[in-house]
Amino acid sequence: MSVHRPFSPLRRDGDGVVILDQRALPWRRLERRLTTLAEAAEAIATMRVRGAPLIGVAAAHGLALAFVTGAADDAALGHALAVLRATRPTAVNLAWALARMEARLRPLPARARRAAAWREAAAILAEEAATCEAIGAHGLGLLRSAPVRAGRPLRVMTHCNAGRLATPGTGTALAPIYAARAAGMALEVLVSETRPRNQGLLTAWELAAADIGHILIADNAAGLLLARGEVDAVIVGADRIAANGDTANKVGTYLKALAARAAGVPFYVAAPMSSFDAGVAHGGAIPIEERAAEEVLAIDGLDDDGAPRRLRLAPDGARAANPAFDITPAALVSGFITEHGILTAAGLGDFLAGKESGKAVI
Ligand code: MRU
Repeated sequence: MSVHRPFSPLRRDGDGVVILDQRALPWRRLERRLTTLAEAAEAIATMRVRGAPLIGVAAAHGLALAFVTGAADDAALGHALAVLRATRPTAVNLAWALARMEARLRPLPARARRAAAWREAAAILAEEAATCEAIGAHGLGLLRSAPVRAGRPLRVMTHCNAGRLATPGTGTALAPIYAARAAGMALEVLVSETRPRNQGLLTAWELAAADIGHILIADNAAGLLLARGEVDAVIVGADRIAANGDTANKVGTYLKALAARAAGVPFYVAAPMSSFDAGVAHGGAIPIEERAAEEVLAIDGLDDDGAPRRLRLAPDGARAANPAFDITPAALVSGFITEHGILTAAGLGDFLAGKESGKAVI
């Protein structure tokens, strides 16, 4: 299958849900049909579907799947919510989508829940896709006003994958890049590998599919490139943003924010409101997912014959820690690119409390 064929990371298919299996990417384009709650939960926990907005959408669809194969009474609803909530702890989009599903479904009689679950899951998917477009439009404004060095196109650095694979739309961090491309701007993207799960390779895959120029770098090259003036802006996504603007995102984000600040390069977080958690006061209260040591001790790839292989990297008996996210303090964030415009950390509290006065355009 060609990499250039349009793809959808998740779509409903009758009484099932078809996902693009991101564990097989960027080497193989493999679709997988999910038909049960257990399959949906497994797909989220093992990162066949991943990215904060997409796991919210996937969880909503997982709840709909629970009612296809089983009862829809209060006990079944409670069980399905508990199973899905336990899949991944950091991205608040998952809890947000499930809370919305529960609010919609619980007041209904059991016989009405099945159809309503599909409807609400579809609404969440459509709204999150529209949100990506709005983030792209607001981010485009920032990119248009960014000063560019003579002799090269605008250069944006990103981390992890916050694009079409991570959302039901054009992404969060990548949405402004797709918008800039559609507007005919010359730009290229610096993509860091994002060890240990290498989501940067997913970003390279989807940017190649969209024919957007990009350069893959080792995670540790980011500081040098920023210090040398080779980057005009950094844009990353988010998994959860606390009320004070502290931001949980893929591990390695914090180091990029520090290096960007030291180099005087703007550092933006692009995220929908579903990634903001007004109930968490600061980053220290955000749960950080600790994943299996195996992800650090080994690496997946293709051998010279194109066959998928897992290689052991570490010496026998090596121990590994694997925090999947880190916290970037709000003070390092130049602005939050949201569907409502560009917000600053200083105005965030008021904005989340529903006051438009908190909205500040940079
Ligand atoms: O562990 P992942 O791959 O689900 O983590 C994804 C990220 O950290 C993304 O940057 C974030 O979810 C934003 S996705 C639009």
